[in-house]
Amino acid sequence: MPRQSIIIDTDPGQDDALAILLALAHGDALDVLGITAVCGNISVSGTAANALKVLALAGREDVPVFVGSAAPLVGKLVTADVLHGKAITAGWDLPFSSAAPRPEFAADWIIDTLLSRPAGTVTICALGPLTNIALALAKRPEIADRLEGLVMMAGASQGGNMNAVAEFNVFVDPHAAARVFAAPVRKVVVSLDVTRKLLVTETELRRLTAAKNGITAEVTKLLGLYDACARAGAPRALHDPAVIAMLLAPDIFKGREVNVEIETAQGLTYGQTIVDVNGVTGRPANAHWLTDVDSDAFYSLLCDALARG
Ligand code: BDR
Ligand code: CA
Repeated sequence: MPRQSIIIDTDPGQDDALAILLALAHGDALDVLGITAVCGNISVSGTAANALKVLALAGREDVPVFVGSAAPLVGKLVTADVLHGKAITAGWDLPFSSAAPRPEFAADWIIDTLLSRPAGTVTICALGPLTNIALALAKRPEIADRLEGLVMMAGASQGGNMNAVAEFNVFVDPHAAARVFAAPVRKVVVSLDVTRKLLVTETELRRLTAAKNGITAEVTKLLGLYDACARAGAPRALHDPAVIAMLLAPDIFKGREVNVEIETAQGLTYGQTIVDVNGVTGRPANAHWLTDVDSDAFYSLLCDALARG
């Protein structure tokens, strides 16, 4: 498989951190051009700081970090505190990073990067709300043609985690998601439908923390929330690393082409990804919606990456 150039747009987030570590461990396959931080799990200053800490942990402070949007396109930011209490900030006492974010605004850097590289050579991995990507597409719509693709953790068709139907990343900024799903870009969607099959059980935790290397102690801290939930008999799903796994090992996933629309109206279904699974609307397919994953193969990939640390 040829080496792929990627931009990671992210709101770390413990699962975002594992996704970044997974990508960096596979430098043979993935060239991480930069990390763009977006508000989501916490404020954008916090997610940028966390991205820098993850890069320091991996010894990769050469990877540039850009600060992106501090708020969704419409309305006020809803952070993951509402979902997890303050637990989303647990485990982040990682070593201090002396690096600083670059001065360019994240959406502008995405535009500059896509316009300065050959068309069809860069993939965006979106691990948070889609605000930065929507802003970049709004400012320079022609970047849609320059992208190789967009692989995103977004949405759900079988029940949400913010209301009965909406997933967090889409719920935080459904207006951005609507713009991104409407853009003429090849999209692959890793939704809760798939990530709920990647539960972090006590067995998986033992596997993830088995390696005894420079990053094990810090990874164990980041996984503290998952450990507590697994011990309580309510294992949490692991979301964002599945986006990177999709690039590294697409064969472990199954999916189908569907039409996806986003509910932006306030109400019970705010932020829903409306997936036309039966093709009844007549609207053209605009996304490859993943439906299944080989959980064991996924964890082997992730554990192998963490063991390289
Ligand atoms: C998504 O929400 C965030 O809390 C996680 O980092 C993940 O990207 C899952 O709904
Ligand atoms: Ca995330």
